[in-house]
Amino acid sequence: GDAAGQERLVESRPFTSYGSALHIALPQAPRAGQLITLLIDYEAGEGPGVCWLSPEQTAGKQKPYMYTQGQAVLNRSFFPCFDTPSVKFTYSATVKVPEGFTAVMSATSWEKQKDNTFVFKMSQPIPSYLIALVVGDIVSADVGPRSCVWAEPCLIEAAKKEYDGVIEEFLVVGEKLFGPYVWGRYDILFMPPSFPFGGMENPCLTFVTPCLLAGDRSLADVIIHEISHSWFGNLVTNATWGEFWLNEGFTMYAQRRISTEVYGLPYTCLEAATGRALLRQHMDTTGEDHPLNKLRVVIEPGLWGVNPDDTYNETPYEKGYCFVSYLAHLVGNQSKFDAFLQAYVNQFKFQSITADDTLEFFLEYFPELKAKGVDSIPGFEFDRWLNTPGWPPYLPDLSPGQQLMKPAEELAELWAADSLNMEAIEAVDIMGWRTYQLVHFLDQVLQKSPLPEGNVKRLSKMYPKISKAQNAELRLRWCQIVLKNNLEAEYSKVKDFLHSQGKQKYTLPLYRAMWGSSEAARALAMETFSATAPQLHVNVQNYVKKILGLGGTE
Ligand code: BES
Ligand code: ZN
Repeated sequence: GDAAGQERLVESRPFTSYGSALHIALPQAPRAGQLITLLIDYEAGEGPGVCWLSPEQTAGKQKPYMYTQGQAVLNRSFFPCFDTPSVKFTYSATVKVPEGFTAVMSATSWEKQKDNTFVFKMSQPIPSYLIALVVGDIVSADVGPRSCVWAEPCLIEAAKKEYDGVIEEFLVVGEKLFGPYVWGRYDILFMPPSFPFGGMENPCLTFVTPCLLAGDRSLADVIIHEISHSWFGNLVTNATWGEFWLNEGFTMYAQRRISTEVYGLPYTCLEAATGRALLRQHMDTTGEDHPLNKLRVVIEPGLWGVNPDDTYNETPYEKGYCFVSYLAHLVGNQSKFDAFLQAYVNQFKFQSITADDTLEFFLEYFPELKAKGVDSIPGFEFDRWLNTPGWPPYLPDLSPGQQLMKPAEELAELWAADSLNMEAIEAVDIMGWRTYQLVHFLDQVLQKSPLPEGNVKRLSKMYPKISKAQNAELRLRWCQIVLKNNLEAEYSKVKDFLHSQGKQKYTLPLYRAMWGSSEAARALAMETFSATAPQLHVNVQNYVKKILGLGGTE
């Protein structure tokens, strides 16, 4: 625990080096309320916010590609701005690109003019981190009345097939639960494989990893998550990155509310159980008491403050989800809590707020709870939720998922035995299992690993559906199991997976596992990193370097 904990703490670095303050001297002191127009002539390019990919780094391998990723504090290297989520503004942009390329942005309107010039306008106020641009050889296909998918030509068919006709239902359920969808269109852009996130909620145009193209819609929870940000994060925004959980915790809750309406409670509880397993793993590696394991993280201003990007871990997501679930539990009635969420969005839309605002509004909305003093129940104080690191004091009940989870848990139990009961194992047919049931099974196997000698090898042979899976969530878990069990015969799968994509949440756990394992695994880590580093997002590169003890992050 300690070593990993340190790895995280030393991650503090002078993120002011991502840019410097732009001081503008005015010819004369302005009057209060006076409108001033500034024209700033600048060039961007080398900063971490703008990613330039060579043709080899795209799916089609024919043409170069560029994309921007603003969250948390990278857009200051893309354009001059108040790069804080506490300031919101509208924007417009005119983008001229070379022949044969298309530009798209997180904007409410898009217009192609002559000379490969694209004009964008975002008519709703948004924080700087939500401005995003892609230029590439991309095409679109409609998947709903207000939605299309964008992708490189070689992926567009798969992209359309994955989500044709399903996005609208998510949006409609979201609107029913949380109020009007104010952003006009909701489109999805499939990014090149090195995109460091599962999804990024750029307004009007979510960016997603191509790993979502599983062929069976099994990873749609990521889409539902990004859609949920349309209310939580993009409308009601955390005022500081120290309260990132306000964006992600409420979004996890909203995601699972939509999922419950669309797929039912058992399936949603199963998905939530895999989220809880991620939180368990995270707290095991960092230590529960790690300062990042509080919902409210202290991000000191000044040169050596914590870089907000370093607070990206499971705590704001899954502990945040637990806290919102706890608030719902206090209310004790789902439709009353849904009504509260809708009122909350309506109250704070287009604003940036702190957790204090949220909790004050909660207590005002439910005066009977306020009178009961629910904010200071011993062990569950709101202040403790926010400011004490550690495992959540309240966990929502996931037992409605038992019917789906139990078979997976029992099967894992069988595989962990010293002498395998093959008859019992063969009696379980996993062919009909949903992806998240398999994920849950693998999470259990991983938790019990290393398994007795020979078991994992046998498991691998018995279930090619798992050990040869194409689904990224399954591949991640299988690679983790391979490493934890020192199954050198399958190290090539780890290598292949890391060569095929660059998502941070897949990449870092695997490098941590390799580094904490045998000499052979460490060698694999070094070899894989030197081959893939140029393809990784610069942030991910730096985090891997830290894990591998390769120092310097600047
Ligand atoms: N906004 C985040 C991605 C992000 C966080 C980018 C912090 C930069 C800094 C996005 O909404 C997200 O949470 N994506 C998840 C989806 C998952 C929780 C379903 C991801 O990428 O894994
Ligand atoms: Zn999110």
